Amino acid sequence: MANLPGTTDRRIDALLTLLTENSTIVISGEKIAKEIGVTRQQVWRWVQKMRELGVRVKGHARTGYHIERAPDILVPQLLSRRLFGTPFARRIYHFFKIDSTNTVAMQLGEQGEPHGALVLAEEQTAGRGRAGRKWISEKSAGIHCSILMRPPISPAHAPLLTLVAGLAARDAAAEELDVLPDIRWPNDLLVRGRKFSGILTEMHAEPDRMHYAVIGIGINVNQTKMPAELADFATSLRIETGKVHSRLEVLIRLLRHLDRYYNQFIAEGAGPILRRFAEVSSYFQGKRVRITTPIEVFTGTTAGLESSGVLRVMRDDGGGIESVLSGDVAEAS
Ligand code: BTN
Repeated sequence: MANLPGTTDRRIDALLTLLTENSTIVISGEKIAKEIGVTRQQVWRWVQKMRELGVRVKGHARTGYHIERAPDILVPQLLSRRLFGTPFARRIYHFFKIDSTNTVAMQLGEQGEPHGALVLAEEQTAGRGRAGRKWISEKSAGIHCSILMRPPISPAHAPLLTLVAGLAARDAAAEELDVLPDIRWPNDLLVRGRKFSGILTEMHAEPDRMHYAVIGIGINVNQTKMPAELADFATSLRIETGKVHSRLEVLIRLLRHLDRYYNQFIAEGAGPILRRFAEVSSYFQGKRVRITTPIEVFTGTTAGLESSGVLRVMRDDGGGIESVLSGDVAEAS
């Protein structure tokens, strides 16, 4: 594994895993210290740190510790076990706080890290969205993850990779919601018209060869309210359902679905991905939309996707079918 400054200490990871997996019993400070190879004082200091992070650990050094409720922290050791058999189980870089997981994953790509490396953060201080926007990444409320991929495809097919990730996030979220989520091309996830997840794909490529791509996924999970200026457009799973959701479980499902869709895409090509998108997105065909690209704004009606994943829009101004490679899509009246 690459040595990255700021990643969560492996021993804190081990302590969290130990306490979570033995949540019904009290474990002595001495036993914990022995298992993870630190002093009892160090165990006590880390327990204090975890309490500050909101993990409810009961007990103290003399009597032993136990966890009141499994913490919803994206603990690498636990994740790794649950993701066994996928390429995401082997290299998991976890941060309590980082500027942007996408920035870290791009650096890992540059350093030659293999396909499947995963970067996770409980909090991002400079989370990035599409078109230079910010992605608000409050501590431990959402999922902020970036996946390094080295797909054997040409850069022209990169939009398909973005669709693959959007479908995976959609399926993971659908299991948490009472109503079906929609996908606004290319991969904004909406519930009752408000966005709760976005994906930022970045890549390093030559015209005919992709070196690596980073898929950055943000999901609003347990936010209880959105900032006032976003409240009309943005939401979270918790706001929609009134329930607390396990970020760990949603993330595991997201990565398992991603593994499935990605393998299908590499083995069978674009067909199944495009068909699935047509099934689950109301934006696929016949949707009135306003498209904003770096050069113009126009309205029209969606007319399916090209085999590369690009959106086709029949323009209102008589200009025929436009292929939208990238741009903002909004529902038009
Ligand atoms: C968008 O809808 O504008 C895309 C949002 C992507 C946010 C995620 S959070 C994890 C990863 N790290 C970032 O800085 N951005 C992406």
